[in-house]
Amino acid sequence: MLQPNNPANAALLVNINGAILPRDQAGVSPFDSSVQNGDAVWEGLRLYQGRLFRLDAHLERLRRSAALLRYQGMPSDATLVSELRRTLAANGMRDRVHVRLTVSRGIKYTSGLDPRINTLGCSFFILAEHKAPVYDNASGISLITAGQRRPFANVLDQHIHSCNQLTSILAKIEANAAGADDALLLDTEGMLAETNSTHVFIVKDGVVRTSTTRACPAGITRAAVIELCRRHAQPCEVGHIPACELKQADEMFVTGTMGEITPVARLDDHAFTPFPGPVTSLIAAWYRALTTDPEQGTRLVD
Ligand SMILES: Cc1ncc(COP(=O)(O)O)c(C=O)c1O
Repeated sequence: MLQPNNPANAALLVNINGAILPRDQAGVSPFDSSVQNGDAVWEGLRLYQGRLFRLDAHLERLRRSAALLRYQGMPSDATLVSELRRTLAANGMRDRVHVRLTVSRGIKYTSGLDPRINTLGCSFFILAEHKAPVYDNASGISLITAGQRRPFANVLDQHIHSCNQLTSILAKIEANAAGADDALLLDTEGMLAETNSTHVFIVKDGVVRTSTTRACPAGITRAAVIELCRRHAQPCEVGHIPACELKQADEMFVTGTMGEITPVARLDDHAFTPFPGPVTSLIAAWYRALTTDPEQGTRLVD
């Protein structure tokens, strides 16, 4: 899946530490920790009819990532929400918009990795783009099982949702070389972790199953799917899923803010049939309804 270059984004205004600037004039200092060390945390959010879906959960995850990295001078939620509102208003955006909110450890007074040379507090960057769900959720996607593995917290805690995405990028390069849309990553013990950018669910004999978050971030869409299953009395289990059980599944789908609910048509040489699976289609319909439920979003645009 190669994202198209959407001409609607040619004149975007982006927010750099509160300054709203045309995309081509926006700059980040080479002393910023995001540039120096990839030392930044981020959230991808989606705007539905003027409301940011589950904004509070995203801000909580952002704050948790920043706390795990011991950031000092993190902007308050009130500041971030007001800057999100300004950015969306400046761009006249209301729907079919994806927002990347990034907070870095901030500017260093000299190059290096020691957090003690960061004395100015955090930096923040808000990039809002016109972006429909990035996958074709009608035809689904193909995955390959990557050679890259997702590490546990004793190597790099995946609950730090950081701009260090090199494992994902290396896996994505594998998928590109194989002509697949995305790559599925196992953890270092050979259990399902996630893909390069989404969480993975399988359906077997009517039961929905997904991995634990021991080697992947706690996804907002993943949590919504688990909740929807409970609400609709759809059996759903969270646990360790060995690689060998993936191709035995009746259905597979992936979840994420970028693409919502996406059926998987193929994993390596295995095609899932019938496609799309009935449980996946049901969950996608429940999720679609959830995204426009006023209770589920924070209104930032009238
Ligand atoms: C590595 C990774 N996995 C999964 C996801 C999907 O999470 P969410 O449902 O919160 O968008 C993301 C999204 O940022 C991600 O970066």
